[in-house]
Amino acid sequence: MISLNAPQIGEEEVKAVVKVLRSGVLTAGLGAGPTVTEFEKAYAGFVKAKHAVAMNMGTGALHSALAAAGVERGDEVILPSFTFVATAETVVMIGARPIFVDIDPETYNISLSDVEKAITEKTKAIMPVDLYGLPADVQHIREIADKHGLLIIEDAAQAHGATCIGKPAGAFADAACWSFYASKNMTTGEGGMLTTNNDEIAEKARLIRTHGEKKKYTSIMLGHNYRMTEIQAAIGLVQLKKLPGFVAKRRRNAGRLSEKLRKVKSLQLPAEPKGYKHSWYLYTVRLKNAKENRRNKIIERLKEQGVASEAYYATPIHLMPYYRKFGKHRLPETEKAAKQVFSLPVHPGVTPKKIDFIAETVQHLLK
Ligand SMILES: Cc1ncc(COP(=O)(O)O)c(C=O)c1O
Repeated sequence: MISLNAPQIGEEEVKAVVKVLRSGVLTAGLGAGPTVTEFEKAYAGFVKAKHAVAMNMGTGALHSALAAAGVERGDEVILPSFTFVATAETVVMIGARPIFVDIDPETYNISLSDVEKAITEKTKAIMPVDLYGLPADVQHIREIADKHGLLIIEDAAQAHGATCIGKPAGAFADAACWSFYASKNMTTGEGGMLTTNNDEIAEKARLIRTHGEKKKYTSIMLGHNYRMTEIQAAIGLVQLKKLPGFVAKRRRNAGRLSEKLRKVKSLQLPAEPKGYKHSWYLYTVRLKNAKENRRNKIIERLKEQGVASEAYYATPIHLMPYYRKFGKHRLPETEKAAKQVFSLPVHPGVTPKKIDFIAETVQHLLK
């Protein structure tokens, strides 16, 4: 089976982990150990941010970002429903109300006009998601946010290596949150990072990461245990060095797949608008005008032929049992995309020959 994503781990990562294990320093009691600090510096440099705060998961980074930015109980946060549940989960964890808005049908990212329409006097923040690794139009969301005095917490969990007008994803947000989960473009097994140019958000996120403690056993605010281990950071440092190579291979694979699938009239291929660089975390096509059943059958048939495929995301968050209580949302583009999209493998382990096989299999199934 050609998997949809696969961690790209080599001897360098193994050596780096063994080195940490032998050092006897596995984590820090307060904040960050030496390897975590080195990883934070390297990551901040990579995304050109003033601060990077490492966490033990992307979800924790999102939760910390909202809390550090001052989002509170009773506030409203505008976000897409067409994303991984963690985006909405962290809003609810804070006690704020998620206000789901629709997406652009070409990019699958949050629709700017719908963001504007959803703003009320309770709105505190906007959470754009760089879905599949294509940055949302945060440059223009920034203009909307500034006009209304709102914060932007960007969910960049899938966007390592992506850029918008030459700037790394996250550049226009008050804080951006990244995931290093095993499927991501770079991984630490589990792990996350918060990046920001805002000194206060960084300072608070560092406190939240370790039980709100500035001094050991003296909490000055509500916190959590979101500390990254030295082992995770050691893997992250190696993976970060390899990331440009990983993204280049994904780009090569995505380009080759698009070239081959261009003639399949029933497919909408993934967009990479002018000025944007996709991270190609997920190469997602849409079966135009198709019912959900047909899309699901194609996914099943692909799997039977040895090509992993999945619908990200078949159930938009506003339709999930737990999230229905946050009100009825009219999101026609989201609901349509959820029934028609499916993703295909383009990760660095997929050879050009395998890309050709994937393309031929898709073409054959859609004939
Ligand atoms: C869009 C999105 N947001 C948030 C997360 C949460 O990250 P993590 O799994 O590291 O907690 C993920 C990844 O799993 C994601 O894809």
